[in-house]
Amino acid sequence: MSESISSIPNTRGTGLGPGASSEPARPPILEARRLVKRYRMGRRSLEVLRGVNLVIREGAFLAIRGASGAGKSTLLHLLGGLDVPDEGEILFQGRPLAGLSETALSRFRNRHVGFVFQAYHLLPELDALENVCLPARMARMDPREAERRGRELLARVGLGARMEHKPAELSGGEQQRVAIARALINEPALVLADEPTGNLDSQTGEEILRLLLEIRAERGLTLVMATHDDRVAAHAPAVVELVDGVIRGQVPVQPTGPDLSGVGC
Ligand SMILES: Nc1ncnc2c1ncn2[C@@H]1O[C@H](COP(=O)(O)OP(=O)(O)O)[C@@H](O)[C@H]1O
Ligand SMILES: [Mg+2]
Repeated sequence: MSESISSIPNTRGTGLGPGASSEPARPPILEARRLVKRYRMGRRSLEVLRGVNLVIREGAFLAIRGASGAGKSTLLHLLGGLDVPDEGEILFQGRPLAGLSETALSRFRNRHVGFVFQAYHLLPELDALENVCLPARMARMDPREAERRGRELLARVGLGARMEHKPAELSGGEQQRVAIARALINEPALVLADEPTGNLDSQTGEEILRLLLEIRAERGLTLVMATHDDRVAAHAPAVVELVDGVIRGQVPVQPTGPDLSGVGC
């Protein structure tokens, strides 16, 4: 039986700031300034994000909590350059995404951001290894190196014996493991996970969360995870809430935990 979610370690290397030690604050990897996003539906306009501000420091693990429909996916899509805001700006390592051409933006997504989605989004006609290697092929990595990394990552996520399986031949949890390996193949500094356990039963969800947290700690990744599930959010050392289109403060999950100054709002 797996350990309960509450036993998953979450305090190592939070990257959120000085904390109890006198470690200097790390630089921001991602900043959102007054982000506004509207969806136009015929003559009506739905303002989903109404001035979102966030500062996420390198190595941080931040959960964005919010009810279904609050705009979490919309925000993650903007942060990862999958969509563009109507107002405001996003800076990655201090540089605005708005200045990038379409080609440069897709290169940014491919090289610097790993995406993990609730519904996995694997290509059905490709096997696990081919799915994992796809972003490396897009980055024009040497095919042998891509395959070496792909095999290593699939072994790391526990799928060493499933490399040639197509998504339809894998369980939901296994598909999410493939998606995590795919997110990591180009060694991004930032992983954006949108309800990564949302389609899974609770035990499988715990295993996937544990895997993400272990990999984050091993690689010093910045992880931003959207979730509507308080039990999942509780594993992040810093949680912010998306309500009425804005970020509502910081919710320290551990009162004696790390300093939260890295998550400016
Ligand atoms: N492409 C779209 N066109 C119109 N409305 C959309 C679109 N995408 C999302 N929405 C609406 O925006 C709101 C926020 O959606 P979303 O970001 O998916 O929320 P969450 O991920 O928090 O559940 C919802 O009311 C949703 O219906
Ligand atoms: Mg969503």
